[in-house]
Amino acid sequence: MEKKFYNQLLENNKAWVKSKIDQDPNFFKKLAEGQQPPLLWIGCADSRVPANEIIGAQPGEVFVHRNIANMVVHSDMNMLSVLDYAVNALKVRHIIVCGHYGCGGVKAAMGNFNNGLVDNWIRHIKDVYRLHKAELDAITDEETKFNKFVELNVVEQVYDLAKTNIVQNAWNNNQTLHIHGWVYGVGSGVVKDLGVNISNEKELDEVYQILFNQ
Ligand code: CO
Repeated sequence: MEKKFYNQLLENNKAWVKSKIDQDPNFFKKLAEGQQPPLLWIGCADSRVPANEIIGAQPGEVFVHRNIANMVVHSDMNMLSVLDYAVNALKVRHIIVCGHYGCGGVKAAMGNFNNGLVDNWIRHIKDVYRLHKAELDAITDEETKFNKFVELNVVEQVYDLAKTNIVQNAWNNNQTLHIHGWVYGVGSGVVKDLGVNISNEKELDEVYQILFNQ
């Protein structure tokens, strides 16, 4: 049974290659020449939130980083390396942090269960709860509170991106770089734009602003 599942993946790949070549015989030849995606996507690892598919993007159109609960942890070398390459080598013009309703990571951060190693990651999300504790604790309906926490977590990650020296350096060099916050509905397929679009370090608390020309 497992072998059948595994072999099916390889069969699926063959069928996919054929369908792409049927549409455009040069599809893969063009991709092999390089990439110039206009967009970096930072999303949750959740299997229900496939970056390319949600926005109808083809291979070559979106640079992707995914982890549990779409976090921007400023000491995460993986995230920083992706961000640095996307901003400084690929010169992406947009970064989208896309969270999703029903996120298991965010749910875990609202609770007190022992989840093992992942609790060390979840702690970053708990820090977001602490920042917005008054607002979240005031919501009595659990689902409404959960949804709001998902949204607040996305907004916080947008700001955390803006705090990085990578993003601020790009702005200082007059590079166009817009950061957006989205939440995806796994039960609807619909994206909600949270309307938090940062494109300038002046929108950060003063303590986070880096002065490059002094
Ligand atoms: Co999630």
